[in-house]
Amino acid sequence: MRIIKVNAIDSTNSFVRKFYAGNQNFQPVCVVAEEQTKGRGQFHSTWESEKGKNLTFSILYPLNQLKISHYFLLSSIVSIAVLKALEDLQIPNLSVKWPNDIMSANYKIGGILIENIIQADIIAASVIGIGLNVNQTDFEKLPNASSLRNMVSAEFNLDHVLEKIISSISELLEKIKEINSDEIITQYERQMFRINKVSAFELQNGVRISGMIKGVSPEGKLKVETEGAEVLLFDLKEIKLLY
Ligand code: BTN
Repeated sequence: MRIIKVNAIDSTNSFVRKFYAGNQNFQPVCVVAEEQTKGRGQFHSTWESEKGKNLTFSILYPLNQLKISHYFLLSSIVSIAVLKALEDLQIPNLSVKWPNDIMSANYKIGGILIENIIQADIIAASVIGIGLNVNQTDFEKLPNASSLRNMVSAEFNLDHVLEKIISSISELLEKIKEINSDEIITQYERQMFRINKVSAFELQNGVRISGMIKGVSPEGKLKVETEGAEVLLFDLKEIKLLY
């Protein structure tokens, strides 16, 4: 894959999008920044990352007319691919916190922000943005965050980690149309953070509930079994996992 390295940029997700020429005939491209001045996270949050220590990059990937309803399939494939690459790098206790926070033990080490280019109800191309904490050691302001380096007490070569993740993602996305979505969902569920454990959640209206994560629906809704053994489905804006 063509890799473009830039020093400072607002957001690699915004930048890589400009490479979309309005057709399907392009090769994937990846933009990696040493520093983002307006790194974006999910739910309009910001993504902070120490300059030069971590990976912040976005891949523009042609999807050749994937249906919008396959959005979660795409998102879960990316999470699975990132975990696979990190597994190969011997990072311990990996999981994905719904929908796509990359966790090592109880720490968030990375995040994924997918922003698709939609044309006539079809995903024409995907902008896959990934922030991965690699060699940063100080997370004073983010007590729930950590990095590869902190998890294994070793420094990593950023290019090597990038290469691993890109090839893992490409390998799965190349065959996205042939992939069995049930298998992907099963694999995603197997790697879910706090699956089958009692957890605390906050609902959109501020109410706290306790329940057990049982998995995800094919559209990516979170399945939570509440105390009365009833399984409820929540979408992203409706629920937040507290612990
Ligand atoms: C999240 O966990 O909230 C998602 C974070 C995604 C951050 C990455 S860094 C590279 C790319 N560019 C951005 O502005 N955001 C994503």
